[in-house]
Amino acid sequence: MCGIVGYIGKNTAWPVLIKGLERLEYRGYDSAGIALLEGGTFSVYKKKGRVAELSKFAKSHNELSGGVGIAHTRWATHGVPSDANAHPHLSNGGDIVIVHNGIIENYLSIKKVLIGKGYKFKSDTDTEVLANLIEDIKKNGSAGRQIPIDEAVRLALAEVTGAYAILVLSKDEPGTMVVAKVGSPAVIGIGNGEFFIASDATPIVEHTKKVVYLEDGEMAVIKDGKLSLKTIKNKVRKNLYVHTLKTKIEELEKGGFPHFMLKEIFDQPESLRNTMRGRIVMDKGNVKFGGVEKFNKEFKNLEHLTIIGMGTARFSGLIGEYAFEELAGIPVKVEYGSEFTYRSVANGRHAGLIAISQSGETADTLNAIKKAKEEKLLTLGIVNVIGSSIARVVDAGIYNHVGPETAVASTKATTSQALLFVMLAIYLGRMRDLSKSDGQKILKEIQKLPEYVESILKHANLIKKLAKKYKKYKNFFFLGRKYNAGAAMEGALKLKECSYIHAEGCNAAELKHGPISLIDKDFPSLVIAPTDSMYEKNKSHIQEIKARGGKVIVLTTEGNKELKNVADDVIYIPKTLEMLTPILAFVPMQLLAYYIAVEKGNDVDKPRNLAKSVTVE
Ligand code: AGP
Ligand code: GLU
Repeated sequence: MCGIVGYIGKNTAWPVLIKGLERLEYRGYDSAGIALLEGGTFSVYKKKGRVAELSKFAKSHNELSGGVGIAHTRWATHGVPSDANAHPHLSNGGDIVIVHNGIIENYLSIKKVLIGKGYKFKSDTDTEVLANLIEDIKKNGSAGRQIPIDEAVRLALAEVTGAYAILVLSKDEPGTMVVAKVGSPAVIGIGNGEFFIASDATPIVEHTKKVVYLEDGEMAVIKDGKLSLKTIKNKVRKNLYVHTLKTKIEELEKGGFPHFMLKEIFDQPESLRNTMRGRIVMDKGNVKFGGVEKFNKEFKNLEHLTIIGMGTARFSGLIGEYAFEELAGIPVKVEYGSEFTYRSVANGRHAGLIAISQSGETADTLNAIKKAKEEKLLTLGIVNVIGSSIARVVDAGIYNHVGPETAVASTKATTSQALLFVMLAIYLGRMRDLSKSDGQKILKEIQKLPEYVESILKHANLIKKLAKKYKKYKNFFFLGRKYNAGAAMEGALKLKECSYIHAEGCNAAELKHGPISLIDKDFPSLVIAPTDSMYEKNKSHIQEIKARGGKVIVLTTEGNKELKNVADDVIYIPKTLEMLTPILAFVPMQLLAYYIAVEKGNDVDKPRNLAKSVTVE
């Protein structure tokens, strides 16, 4: 939540900052702001609404020059979205300006002390409290004498609790920018005599490929063209560990599609290929994961696994649950990251935790990993964003390799996650009782997935027609069994978040234990019913709904004629192995959510109230 961008260098800051905010807008978009520093004066522009509005507003006001600046796009935690609560926040004396991603948990007690000292507050944010705390410490620093901005920030941070990534400028020290982080991400791009700072690498990649990731509890001080790192406890980090970015600019653009979401849905044949690329070892009926091999012994001894994630990621985990049990015989529990953190977790002998996250920044999941590590569980991350916090904190890691996913609603990361779960189940299975030929059988089918998805996408127009027919409904059920129960939950989430239609995802068997009382002619259901081991059961579920006057869209296997006569509408997916059906089922459900949202005129890529990367608990 919230994206921060900073620039300090020889060029003009404004264009870098505004473009950077556009790239980070997926992280929050209820208000945006920029502060520029030039000739010892701050110019602060901030506006409720989207980055485009900020841009319009600022341009009509002033000349946007200055080689130093910080910027923010907000997902409000403290105080409503408004001009006043938008970042950057200035301190009372106007000496300090700050942008912040995260939450300062003890802001109220600090605010009280500052009010006692005469400070006044213009916003309801926790961030403004930090701005004033830094100013106060800077002013009265050492024996009543001013101290440098980096030292003031360091001392202020020693007093705060919570999660943050901050960028701070002082007008007295125009050649200095201070960055610090605990819990929220911050990346520093090193250019030629210039530095680019951001919440992730997307605003940086068009300027430089060289980046440094700030670790938790660290701060970076960029002073007179030099970057130095130290901890908040004042321990200097000598080695910068400069990483090279591999993202291409084209991956960050829409490529001719009207929305990122549609582009990302259509990316899926390729993104699935990228997920499996170089990882299938057909002659051994096995897969290869470079970031896991080192822990083979531990994985072989695993007796129990917990999969954690939030939202879509957890639903993918529900597919993993069945796959691990079926192919590797390992008992699995799927849990919300947020809840795992607060449960009594048995100490980790032979227990493992798989954390799944597209962004690699989800605070609920990140905290759960920290807890798992304390309990000595073996941790594995399935993450898309390279170099993200989760990717760096886990013992073993597998990247999705689907490229940047920009639309807030996850699509190509979801199918990739489900695929990786099946591949990982083969890997763990081959360490146990899964035969080579069974491994090969699944892998051969996995290799066909991109073509299957292509064939579904060719019929996107049929789903568009369905969207026109079903957009008027206010409620929806998404139902499935076994591997497709999780897929149904994901289908419902997709519809909810994009189209604002209430949708419930539910195990189809559970329907008759309560939810079925909701069914009537105005409450349609989408039932995922491929011709697999659950087919007969699903047929009964469909009949039960029809008997109560409910409309049914059936998602079934190509060639099935039987359900056509029962259902109101049918969507076909190619025949594949049962454990791979959710990967195919996801695609039409994504399209349905997308087209209904477009029909309703919603902002598909940035649905209301949401943010892509949820870095607060
Ligand atoms: C997906 O469409 C959602 N917007 C959301 O549920 C998301 O999956 C969840 O916030 C977890 O994000 P992560 O994968 O980046 O951890
Ligand atoms: N807590 C700050 C605010 O409400 C930052 C929010 C965030 O990072 O989500 O403005």
